[in-house]
Amino acid sequence: MLELELPSKQHDETRQGEALIIKAKLPVDKVPRKLYIESYGCAMNFSDSEIVASILADEGFTTTASYEEADVIFINTCAIRENAETRVRNRLKQFRAIKRENKDLVIGVLGCMAERLKAKFLEEEKLVDVVVGPDAYRDLPNLIAKVDDGQKAINVLLSREETYADLSPVRLNSNGISAFISIMRGCDNMCSFCVVPFTRGRERSRDPFSIVKEAEDLRDAGYKEVTLLGQNVDSYKWSAEGSEDVVNFANLIEIVAKVSPDMRVRFSTSHPKDITDEVLETIAKHENICNYIHLPVQSGNSRVLDIMNRTYTREWYLNRIDAIRRIIPTCSISTDIITGFCSETEEEHQETLSLMQEVKFEFAYMYSYSERPGTPAAKKFKDDVSEDVKQRRLTEIIALQQENSFYRAQKRVGKVEKVLIEGFSKKSKLDYCGRSDHNSMVIFPVMEQYKPGDYVNVLVEKTTTAVLIGKIVI
Ligand code: SAH
Ligand code: SF4
Ligand code: F3S
Repeated sequence: MLELELPSKQHDETRQGEALIIKAKLPVDKVPRKLYIESYGCAMNFSDSEIVASILADEGFTTTASYEEADVIFINTCAIRENAETRVRNRLKQFRAIKRENKDLVIGVLGCMAERLKAKFLEEEKLVDVVVGPDAYRDLPNLIAKVDDGQKAINVLLSREETYADLSPVRLNSNGISAFISIMRGCDNMCSFCVVPFTRGRERSRDPFSIVKEAEDLRDAGYKEVTLLGQNVDSYKWSAEGSEDVVNFANLIEIVAKVSPDMRVRFSTSHPKDITDEVLETIAKHENICNYIHLPVQSGNSRVLDIMNRTYTREWYLNRIDAIRRIIPTCSISTDIITGFCSETEEEHQETLSLMQEVKFEFAYMYSYSERPGTPAAKKFKDDVSEDVKQRRLTEIIALQQENSFYRAQKRVGKVEKVLIEGFSKKSKLDYCGRSDHNSMVIFPVMEQYKPGDYVNVLVEKTTTAVLIGKIVI
């Protein structure tokens, strides 16, 4: 394996070198301007918004949590399902009134829907001034300058190299305790239903030195938890130019775990075809790598998995679940499920239910299939499961998952969980909330000697499907 200890200093110099290249491009009389940025979709988008804020901070922008006082409003969009796009269009309608009152206001659409629709967005939504895809954020100062000149601006070029590795994200809506670190971009998998390979381009891994540096910076700023992000983290792969030494995902979580024993490491998303025993063994070996894996299955039937192009079977998936249970016996597992994919029969749907029953996931994100224009499934298959049937199957899946979540939560009653306090519970200032190592939300009465950012042991006394309820034990 590659030696990963040394380059901290060297890296700093690189960063400075690169920082010099990023010169202010916007007229000084326009600054300071205020940026309001709203993110939809997956954590990747939230993380990208922090990169965007960092790029514009170099141009004298500050961020604001209120769109009414903003000079620039950005919406970082998701295109994964049709309803994700509908939400964005509805949100844009709400900005019409303020745009009418403030002619200088710049409205931009970023992210996956911007990449999917490209110039069509400018034609369809007249109030939008800027359209920018996920790999073009460094161009934002130029694009805003163009809008200042009275033009519309667009950059939706995808890149094979861009990882924004040298940028220090501006932490937005942060609790100062947990943060995302993007470790790779794009996806090469081409699951037939999925728009992501088209909106985010080819897969590329960020260099491990800059990832470790970002984790160290977060540690030094008092953060206690980092979540490493990628569409398929298990295919993380990096090697120095000309070197044959490869840093894989198992190596990466190990070096990030070593940044501080007091800082938890989480990651998302794992892919059943790529998650290795080496990764599982590394999780088991390090106390601060959380015992929680999000492993989307999508369907419990091998024929459906095949036409989804997931490249594994039901048996393969269950074998990976067995490996997790063998190597990390206490690991909790969550999943994603799509119901009503093209040509899915009633028996095949039953197989999804039986797989859920067999695994008893702690948690699941469940969706009915939404055809996305341009994807392999949209080109090759008919979206022929009726809306009614999709909804009925989804209801059955959700009902079963509720039972399973409750079953899993019940098993924790009477146990002591190590919880990282995140803050007060939403409902009461008398209670704290935080996540267990297994990613369950835990609620417990405040004890004054403990504050957000501290780890506490909580005895679980009761549970709902969604949260564990208990008290601190010393
Ligand atoms: N990279 C991750 C998932 C990213 S998208 C993985 O491979 O698992 C998040 C989830 O959205 C997917 O797991 C899938 O369950 C769901 N999804 C993606 N495309 C969809 C579509 N066209 N219709 C419905 N759900 C979809
Ligand atoms: Fe989409 Fe599949 Fe890539 Fe996940 S792995 S982002 S579902 S193509
Ligand atoms: Fe959505 Fe793009 Fe993420 S489509 S789920 S925001 S990668």
